[in-house]
Amino acid sequence: MFERLREDIQSVFHRDPAARNAFEVLTCYPGMHAIWIHRLSSALWGMGWKWLARLVSNFGRWLTGIEIHPGAKVGRRFFIDHGMGIVIGETAEIGNDVTLYQGVTLGGTSWNKGKRHPTLEDGVVVGAGAKVLGPFTVGAGAKIGSNAVVTKAVPAGATVVGIPGRIIVKSDDEQDAKRKAMAEKIGFDAYGVGEDMPDPVARAIGQLLDHLQAVDGRLEGMCGALKDLGSNYCAKDLPELREEDFACVKDKDESKAG
Ligand SMILES: CC(C)(COP(=O)(O)OP(=O)(O)OC[C@H]1O[C@@H](n2cnc3c(N)ncnc32)[C@H](O)[C@@H]1OP(=O)(O)O)[C@@H](O)C(=O)NCCC(=O)NCCS
Repeated sequence: MFERLREDIQSVFHRDPAARNAFEVLTCYPGMHAIWIHRLSSALWGMGWKWLARLVSNFGRWLTGIEIHPGAKVGRRFFIDHGMGIVIGETAEIGNDVTLYQGVTLGGTSWNKGKRHPTLEDGVVVGAGAKVLGPFTVGAGAKIGSNAVVTKAVPAGATVVGIPGRIIVKSDDEQDAKRKAMAEKIGFDAYGVGEDMPDPVARAIGQLLDHLQAVDGRLEGMCGALKDLGSNYCAKDLPELREEDFACVKDKDESKAG
């Protein structure tokens, strides 16, 4: 029991820079109190003392503003920051190292019995005021933005924001690296040709580089096949692209930056 308590306190230190010492966490963190009360109500629920379990849960709600149904399954190092206005439904399942902020609802969208609340896998973070509604899974390490409303499954590691929740697509590092490699191969320095570049010409160049790379890959494959058939057609070098050919693009870019 003390081991779990120590783990709970450590989890607060890891996730709340405002926490100063163990005594403060023990006495001033309603999220902690709600979790301890839930452990009691959950044990009573498991023993079949349903009414008493609900009563204990209701006492926890009165004390902390956090309502966790005794039937909800909660993993280790669960951290509720600030608390107040949190509702966790009966069939919700919460993995290890999950964090919820104030105003979160893990709710259902139907009155049918059975699984109707979400499952949050390990390491999920749900921002303040977010509503996660329905019997789907939020994958490990996913983040739900504050005030988002999520009604569909979220893949592991994704970040979801807005109403209805949509996955934020971060710039694709792998694609950027491929473009850079292609640009270097043809002797062209792709000045600032990135996903976040607002210049339509630069974006078009980026698309051309992607296409060129695909064509290049296919040509290499064809040349390999021709060579296997005994042809030396691909032995001839392609005309070289010189950096001076792109001087006007470079000048324009530099004058913009200046
Ligand atoms: C969703 C969240 C996890 C994203 O964090 P991140 O991965 O660092 O993402 P960024 O801050 O780089 O934001 C990426 C984009 O999403 C937008 N965004 C971030 N959070 C958003 C939210 N809650 N709702 C709508 N859009 C949001 C940003 O404006 C940005 O848009 P842009 O690319 O058009 O500029 C974070 O913003 C969040 O909401 N965390 C919850 C924190 C919380 O509730 N704290 C309460 C403390 S009391």
